[in-house]
Amino acid sequence: MRIPVFLLDEWLNQYHFSPNPPEFDLASSTGPHWTTREMLGLLSAEERERFLDTELVYADAAGAAGLRAAIAEMQGVGAEEVQVLTGAAEALLILFLLAAEPGANVLLPAPQFPPTAVLPSLFGLETRFYQLRREDGFRIDPDEIKRLADDRTKMLVVNSPHNPTGATLSDEELRELHDFAAGRGIQFVSDEVYHPIYHGRETNTAARLPHATVVGSFSKSLSASGLRVGWVVERDRPRLRQYTNARQYLTISNTPLGEALALVALRHRETIFARAQKVATNNLNLLERFFAGHVGQLDWVRPGGGMTAFPWLRDGGDAREFCRAVAERGVLLVPGDCYDMPEHFRLGFGVAEKGFAEGLEIIAGHLQTRRGVAAGVTATAVSTSGAAHE
Ligand SMILES: Cc1ncc(COP(=O)(O)O)c(C=O)c1O
Repeated sequence: MRIPVFLLDEWLNQYHFSPNPPEFDLASSTGPHWTTREMLGLLSAEERERFLDTELVYADAAGAAGLRAAIAEMQGVGAEEVQVLTGAAEALLILFLLAAEPGANVLLPAPQFPPTAVLPSLFGLETRFYQLRREDGFRIDPDEIKRLADDRTKMLVVNSPHNPTGATLSDEELRELHDFAAGRGIQFVSDEVYHPIYHGRETNTAARLPHATVVGSFSKSLSASGLRVGWVVERDRPRLRQYTNARQYLTISNTPLGEALALVALRHRETIFARAQKVATNNLNLLERFFAGHVGQLDWVRPGGGMTAFPWLRDGGDAREFCRAVAERGVLLVPGDCYDMPEHFRLGFGVAEKGFAEGLEIIAGHLQTRRGVAAGVTATAVSTSGAAHE
């Protein structure tokens, strides 16, 4: 089996873990970083002692009972309807693995978090894509999704707030798609790793819908990607048992340290969500001004939720070169070819609690140079063509 290169993580890892990483991270798709010390600082002395007594053994394959109960309480479901996993990444892996059967197809967004498309095709599933088009404000169109379905459709995946565009579905659209899928016996998967970070209209979790499989994570809105903890809400018991069984083969369990810290994060989720929302809101305000000041060179759609935007170069240029040049100046972005859309770039605005404005200034400096170079090329071309006519 040949696994395609994971361009997104290859790009991020190459810069994040280099000896000289760019000073300003405007690439990551997470919330502001938390240290272990800060997280433990949220605990009482007694709770800290209990944490230090965590045994370094395998955890329950379903997830620690206390953590499942806390996730269930947040999601408004029963603890027995929650499976804890190694990030939403393992959730997607297991969901597609279990959906795989000859001739079956899955409906997916394009663009998308790359494993959402690569994993099902590795497992032999036909992948059918509904498009989030910039000319439609990256709207997710329920009618387009419905037209793609047939009697071999096994799964419909929605991701709202969406990575990388920040598009969101309304409550009504989420329900409409859920009802459509349920009515046809299609598994409805709602990847909600950016919930509840919104920048306008808010959407309720799909966990309220009886047939939804909900994928959640501590990595994005809960701002602790290093815990590597995610979860699935599933009311279909035979399916849930299959998830537990599958993960016993794959990762066995999470580390109990990660699960213990995840429980701390959940107990203090209002503090963590508030910090992530504040950083994202402040930075989004800066972005609005930034894009208004660069309408000639850049365009964007303001995200309705989440912590990423997906702007593009108006001249249709390849954003990889642009991102490389900007990284040399000290600002990390993500080139859109990681999402098969080379004139775009991804900009993460949830991670930088400080320095976001400085990062934008540096990008503005590069845009100015780029404009100067383009003007120079045009001037040379005009004078050269002039010479040819003489
Ligand atoms: C939409 C989406 N789903 C799932 C994941 C995987 O998240 P985790 O860190 O929980 O594995 C990501 C990570 O970027 C994502 O953007």
